[in-house]
Amino acid sequence: MIAAHQSYRSHLQSAEERLITVASGKGGVGKTWFSITLAHALAINAAKVLIFDGDLGLANIDIQLGLTPDRDLSHVMSGEYGLKDIIVRQSISPQDSKGFDVIAGRSGSGNMGSLHHQAVTSMKSSLIELAEQYDHIILDLGAGIDTNVMSLAHHNGLTIVVVSTEPTSLTDAYAFIKLRHMRDPAAKIEIVVNNTASKKDADRIFETLRKACQNFLGFTPGLLGVIRHDRHVVDSIRAQMPILTRFQNSPASEDVLAIARRLQ
Ligand SMILES: Nc1ncnc2c1ncn2[C@@H]1O[C@H](COP(=O)(O)OP(=O)(O)O)[C@@H](O)[C@H]1O
Ligand SMILES: [Mg+2]
Repeated sequence: MIAAHQSYRSHLQSAEERLITVASGKGGVGKTWFSITLAHALAINAAKVLIFDGDLGLANIDIQLGLTPDRDLSHVMSGEYGLKDIIVRQSISPQDSKGFDVIAGRSGSGNMGSLHHQAVTSMKSSLIELAEQYDHIILDLGAGIDTNVMSLAHHNGLTIVVVSTEPTSLTDAYAFIKLRHMRDPAAKIEIVVNNTASKKDADRIFETLRKACQNFLGFTPGLLGVIRHDRHVVDSIRAQMPILTRFQNSPASEDVLAIARRLQ
């Protein structure tokens, strides 16, 4: 676990280490919402941030943000553009130039869920090149543990595994962690428990996951943070506006801002 007084960024050596994968195994646990809010929180604190929609089958960062970009990852896959040509800016403060960059994955013309493995690897290399220009790149992964998901997740940066309090979320998160750890025993993995009703609830979930990792994999992931259940999450997603724009003092916002502070 990263101690509260410790700066995560101060340890970063290479561009690749600036990648932060947000994974979960199970879908619907709040990965995309958390990725966007984390990017926003880091940008509020003046970091240069890019969020990348790595959910190749069901890309939806653009939907949650209400963006309608002309170009997306499908144009990169077809060879029309490079990754840097499809970056759009999400402004977070009209008064100054603050904001974060977005690479949208939505394709009007087809599904990228079945991309060839090599195409995914080369996309990840381009992303690592882009990381030279950023403090953090947040990579919002798709659900599941298929080859493309695991291949995007395989890098020297941090992996944040988001779990909810549903039992299936725990088993799917464990399956993801197991594969990630088996491929790279040095992988830096931290847990975020999302959408919790109480601290007790969150502790119970984390302890179950921690024990499974300790007993069966021989390593202990840290608890990066806990995010409370908050109706403002649903409200802001419905309004297609970042929660930190509308409800900066809501419980879930405060919890993500605290997580961002630990990563800076
Ligand atoms: N902290 C929270 N409080 C309340 N609802 C939440 C919270 N986090 C996520 N949700 C709900 O979960 C849904 C799925 O979120 P999403 O980011 O699309 O998940 P994923 O990317 O993991 O599939 C959201 O539409 C929202 O309704
Ligand atoms: Mg998602």
